Amino acid sequence: MDLIQKCNAYKIKDSRGEETLEVEMSAGEFTVWASVPAGKSTGSREAISLSADDSIKNINEIIAPQLIGKKVNITTIDDFLVSLDGTKNKSNLGANAILGISIAVLKLEAKIANQPLWKYISTLVSQTSDSVVFPRLFVNVLNGGVHADFKLPFQEYMFVLGNGMNIVGPINQLETLFDQLKGKLKVEEKEIEMGDEGGFSFKSGDIEEPFKILSELHNSLAIDVAGGEFFENDKYNVIGKKYSTEELSGIYQNLVKKFPLISIEDPFSENDFNGFKNLVTGLLKDEVLVVGDDLTTTNPQMIEKSIERGLINAVLIKPNQIGTITETLKAIEITHQAGLKTIISHRSGETNDSFIADLAVGVGAYGLKSGTMHQAEREVKYDRLIEIEKELQISQR
Ligand code: PGA
Ligand code: ZN
Repeated sequence: MDLIQKCNAYKIKDSRGEETLEVEMSAGEFTVWASVPAGKSTGSREAISLSADDSIKNINEIIAPQLIGKKVNITTIDDFLVSLDGTKNKSNLGANAILGISIAVLKLEAKIANQPLWKYISTLVSQTSDSVVFPRLFVNVLNGGVHADFKLPFQEYMFVLGNGMNIVGPINQLETLFDQLKGKLKVEEKEIEMGDEGGFSFKSGDIEEPFKILSELHNSLAIDVAGGEFFENDKYNVIGKKYSTEELSGIYQNLVKKFPLISIEDPFSENDFNGFKNLVTGLLKDEVLVVGDDLTTTNPQMIEKSIERGLINAVLIKPNQIGTITETLKAIEITHQAGLKTIISHRSGETNDSFIADLAVGVGAYGLKSGTMHQAEREVKYDRLIEIEKELQISQR
């Protein structure tokens, strides 16, 4: 019953309407499905995803025939996939093809072990806490950058909700805040559109304006600058104005003083190491998170290096940046063992797979980025968190 009997990949559409892949895999009485998201503001060190057609072909013609009859075991199958691919960046088979298989194998393994997915994941990593911790919700409610035609200065403006103790409370609070934000933008007569991650977008050239709006509604905010997206000729071009690394750093320090900003992701371009280092030093006393995303790309070696050099104090985790679950869990463990926080993240092109909700609870991540509930592909992650909270209450009875 623990041998893979069937493995098949086919095309589905993501939240942007672009093609991606889903894998169906069976062992014994169990069948699972896994689908793979896609990013738009990608880091250059990310593993390479191939087109949906090519990755599906690679699964159905190369990977699947060799998987049939193999034991359902995430460690050995991930090792097998990495060596079958044979490249450093998974460009041969495609990181998206490999991840679809990897998630499916993990889901099957959890079913065979008769455990909820989050619980099974928790057995694969060393835990920092004895009790289950829910992630804080980092919810991108104002979309800018490449996710909304660069209308707002930075890529993502987020509410941070929850305290790790429960999940229904913060999700309800998110609904209320999102309605309030909509009302406020209407009163201010903003011409609003929806961005890629289900948040609002409007045109503003004023760096402080989004912070003013959000801080009137909630007292814990985060941003993802995605600094690499507007880095040209050694300058940061923010809504038509050019800033040096030092000037941009000064802007962040000022924002932290004026607004309840607790976390800044990718403040600079992925190779601007001095920018990261100086900002971490400057913001340490304020206990602000400096989060690596395009800088670290869920790559264990890059995370290790960035921690050693003091470039970050938190790490964004996106499984499709690296391609296997085993490497993703390693990236998380390295981060946690160094005493740093992880934030598990969706991509701007999402699918209906709720896997990252289980991953966030299973590893005890500090945060989860999953966008607003106004796109079905993001809402399923919140629905799954609510289900996990119920599963937990049942198991504690
Ligand atoms: P992406 O953006 O999924 O478009 O790469 C998300 C992020 O930068 O965190
Ligand atoms: Zn990011």
